[in-house]
Amino acid sequence: MISKKMQDALNEQVNKEFYSAYLYLAMSAYCNAQGLPGFSNWMRYQYEEEFLHVTKMYDYILNQGGSVHLKQIDEPPSEFGTPLEVFEATLEHEQFVTKCINELMGLAVDERDFATQTFLQWYVTEQVEEEANVNDILAPLRLVGKEGGGLMMIDQQLAKRVSPAPLAPAE
Ligand code: FEO
Repeated sequence: MISKKMQDALNEQVNKEFYSAYLYLAMSAYCNAQGLPGFSNWMRYQYEEEFLHVTKMYDYILNQGGSVHLKQIDEPPSEFGTPLEVFEATLEHEQFVTKCINELMGLAVDERDFATQTFLQWYVTEQVEEEANVNDILAPLRLVGKEGGGLMMIDQQLAKRVSPAPLAPAE
């Protein structure tokens, strides 16, 4: 079982993961409209990835006998600037999510909730990967700036991203 405080904190994080999905879907649409199908493809799969983060946490709350409370999702922006600015905003958002996950882990430690600490470790590791993936794209983007040929090459690379493997519902 989990405490009411932990349940509420996990429900807040479910909402933030939903917002992340919404944000990346908005970025996908924006990149598509900018004539950057590879960037759009990358963001589309990032959106799918966030749904995995949502459902994994949703399952954990239920499996711990908690109540899921789905809250209103904030509206994301619809304009994001240059491709570099899109990924700078992505990194900033992922750094925010990392901070939220760390706060959740801190609560689990304070409560001596060992099951939730073990569960959250997956997210701690995932956030390292999320930030690294974005940094790997930001590095060449900073090099090419607004130069069209370079952007097209990065777009072709991002077109290769494929759908994340779906998570089976937790037992
Ligand atoms: Fe669910 Fe990208 O953090």
